[in-house]
Amino acid sequence: MSGIVGYIGKRNAQPILLDCLDQLDYRGYDSAGIAISTGTSIEKRRAVGRVKDLRTHILREPIPAGTIGIGHTRWATHGTPSEQNSHPLSGCDHRYLVVHNGIIENYTALKRGLKKSGHTFRTDTDTEVIPHLLEEHDTGDFESTVRAVLPLLKGSFALAIMSQQHPQTIVAISQDNPLVIGFGKGETFLASDIPALLPYTREIYPIKNGEIAILTPGKVQLTSVDGEAIEPKRMRVEWDKQDVQFQDYEHYMLKEIFEQTKAAEETLAGRLTSSGIHLPELEAAWSKERVQQLKKIDIVASGTSYHAGMIGRKVLEQLLQLPVHVSYSSEFRDDHPPLDEDSLIVVLSQSGETADTLSALREGKRLKCPTIAITNTVGSTISRKADSTIYTKAGPELAVASTKAYTSQLTAIMLLALWLKEQREGLEEEITLSLLQSLARLPGDIDSTLIMTKDAIDQFAQVTFDQEHLFLIGRGLDYVLALEGALKLQEVAYIHADAYAAGEMKHGTMALITPGVPVIALATQHHVLDKVISNIREVKARDAFVIGITTTGDELLVEEVDQVLYIPETHPYLMPILAVIPLQLLAYYSGIVRDHDVDRPRNLAKSLTVE
Ligand code: M6R
Repeated sequence: MSGIVGYIGKRNAQPILLDCLDQLDYRGYDSAGIAISTGTSIEKRRAVGRVKDLRTHILREPIPAGTIGIGHTRWATHGTPSEQNSHPLSGCDHRYLVVHNGIIENYTALKRGLKKSGHTFRTDTDTEVIPHLLEEHDTGDFESTVRAVLPLLKGSFALAIMSQQHPQTIVAISQDNPLVIGFGKGETFLASDIPALLPYTREIYPIKNGEIAILTPGKVQLTSVDGEAIEPKRMRVEWDKQDVQFQDYEHYMLKEIFEQTKAAEETLAGRLTSSGIHLPELEAAWSKERVQQLKKIDIVASGTSYHAGMIGRKVLEQLLQLPVHVSYSSEFRDDHPPLDEDSLIVVLSQSGETADTLSALREGKRLKCPTIAITNTVGSTISRKADSTIYTKAGPELAVASTKAYTSQLTAIMLLALWLKEQREGLEEEITLSLLQSLARLPGDIDSTLIMTKDAIDQFAQVTFDQEHLFLIGRGLDYVLALEGALKLQEVAYIHADAYAAGEMKHGTMALITPGVPVIALATQHHVLDKVISNIREVKARDAFVIGITTTGDELLVEEVDQVLYIPETHPYLMPILAVIPLQLLAYYSGIVRDHDVDRPRNLAKSLTVE
């Protein structure tokens, strides 16, 4: 989605706003803009494209220096990516300047009413109704004007607003859409997401629904909708500014793939102990009896997090012998299985802000289901709304394609599954003991996988340069892994990659297999290896070029495929964590060889805060 930033302090606002926008451009990169107050008036500059295009525009047409300002990087929802539709947006007389993330659902009706009152619209955006409404309801007092307009807006929105009549003030609102205040020394920042703030401060406060923040030099005043003063309870984030730098890597995606060893280590630290699973975040909220009463589990998530949920389903179901259902968040809200107080809802979200997942969580809470969130973002909306939260400790993930967040989610799901098992019947069974031992070795195994696969995958990506289609096949957990591999290749390399349950190819898809087409056969689940080999023979008989991924020690696959890639062997439940690594690397190198912007794939954004 779009990203919002703000600054108010003693320093020149322009470089700070642009720098913060750079850090947020994974939220949208269709256009960017800033508005800066000189203390007496406000000017704006906007440009189509990325923040670098805005910088070029400002070099051509400099903006007066000032110490207060707001900025925006856009992922277009209403209206094409044009300069006209870029934020900050103003109304008829440019009195108010607004940057917005989210959607104003009733904008058509509001626009109609405003047009009747004589307002002229210049953009196709939903946002433009806001500055017009502010002009229409202007009381002369900034805060009371905003208060008069807020109840008229329906939807989810984070806003930062400036006023030509009050050029020393920024008003910030967060309604079901993230906006975080950062506290510096004598300066205040605003950003849609924490990473943008890390070079400046680690003291933050996420603005909550119904709160209005009034930022003036040296002061942050927070009030409720009814005007009651609120003391912002500051949080200190663990992430560091190093975490948002490229370090020795050319792209965030590659850096994040290589950070998976550390992410797994941190996610397990203190939680996997010699006496079992230690999850104080759950222990506080759940008694053994309550866990034992659970009748079913529903997992909800989107995109890559949904794929983590699909793995989670199989593991939870087998370990707990409970029915487990997994749904896309966007479907769950309107169409979910029967739920009640004994149905546990587990929501997975790297950002903790995905609007579809948030809606699904709300639906679960409406039906009084107990809820657990697994998220990577401390203080995110999902973490605040869920009854309990298990944080993955992957550090900030800035590439649009999710990699380390996915493997950390899987790690956290294993911990959750084992913790629930421990509460219900203990951890003495052979299957759980071996899972515990393998989990302890997981960071080392991830490291070995990275070393074993990096160069081979790089070479393979070079030879598949001119391929438009690619198939991934697997059975059981390998099929879910195939889905995740296909998603990565689609979003980063723009390859038409499709995943199939290996046994299903013969029911239709086989018609698409032509000589030389690459097929990646995943064979890490040894109990189905014979069957996967039969399926490989079927595609080989149609002259497909098959690359097999299996574990060291397997001597069967090499006889069947054109090329084989070995990864370390671990517990079958953990194989998707290791086997996804070559697929992530393949997507990365295939994107590079095709000269794509791998960190910012076309048409996408990282944190999708609209439904
Ligand atoms: O922040 P979330 O985990 O809720 O995000 C869900 C999806 O939007 C996300 O996983 C998306 O599919 C990634 N770009 C995939 O790499």
